[in-house]
Amino acid sequence: METETVYLNGQYLPLADAKISVMDRGFLFGDGIYEVIPAYSGQLFRLEDHLERLDNSLKAIRLQNPHSHEQWRNLLTKLLKKDLDQSVYLQITRGVAPKRDHAFPQNVTPTVFAMVSGITPHADPDNGIKALSMEDSRWKLCHTKAITLLANVLLRQEAIDHDCAEALLFKDGYLTEGAASNVFAVIDGILVTPPKSSAILPGITRDVILEIARKNNIPCSEQAISTDDMKKASEIWITSSTREIIPVVELDSEKVADGKPGPLWKVFYKLFQEYKQSLR
Ligand code: PDD
Repeated sequence: METETVYLNGQYLPLADAKISVMDRGFLFGDGIYEVIPAYSGQLFRLEDHLERLDNSLKAIRLQNPHSHEQWRNLLTKLLKKDLDQSVYLQITRGVAPKRDHAFPQNVTPTVFAMVSGITPHADPDNGIKALSMEDSRWKLCHTKAITLLANVLLRQEAIDHDCAEALLFKDGYLTEGAASNVFAVIDGILVTPPKSSAILPGITRDVILEIARKNNIPCSEQAISTDDMKKASEIWITSSTREIIPVVELDSEKVADGKPGPLWKVFYKLFQEYKQSLR
């Protein structure tokens, strides 16, 4: 079997040889940020948008970006295979400190890691996923792509324990996002999604969906969505870089419309795939 090559602190090496110290701030405190970037046929998708979000996340945790955007492009492209659709995971932590102390260490070099995995978009027009509504128990910096994901992990696992693929999160009676995705719904014929705020991650796939809607004159709106609104939804989708657009066909054991992927999802699935092809 071919060994997977990863990037760690300036070196490309087999995954099994990529080692970091137990004193790394990422390991001890979850003190770091990450990005997940899709790449189609070796071409990084919306790289500038992802790198801009990376800059914002780094700024939020007061860490300098160790690389320029051009350096990131070169560094990440070397990990990709031209004949595959893949996603790149990159992570930067505050680095290895001499002792465990919550305060920032001085003169420490950040740890930089990147690896790739495969992407398989949801293409089944007859089936979607089940989702579970849950109280959003996360913190107030959800717009920051922090590696500190324990709340998201627990929420997703509870959904899985209920035979669901994703948790849809609600804060004070309003939809925020999924445990690892943004959420769209079709309500009264309009495609709606919660507005950007510190309560959600500004998803790059979310931006692409809104762009496609506007370009094709499909009515869409960024607006607050209550639990009652969600009950009226004729379609619900989740979006992310690794899952693209997936229809939710059952929410809290109730079918969404007829329990099949909806007509607008089919339109967007096609438009999204066409858009991807146009970039290859
Ligand atoms: N997560 N919201 C959350 C909480 C997420 O974790 C993600 C993606 C998104 C969608 O963002 P984007 O469209 O830019 O991928 C929204 C990634 C894929 C992950 O954690 O693996």
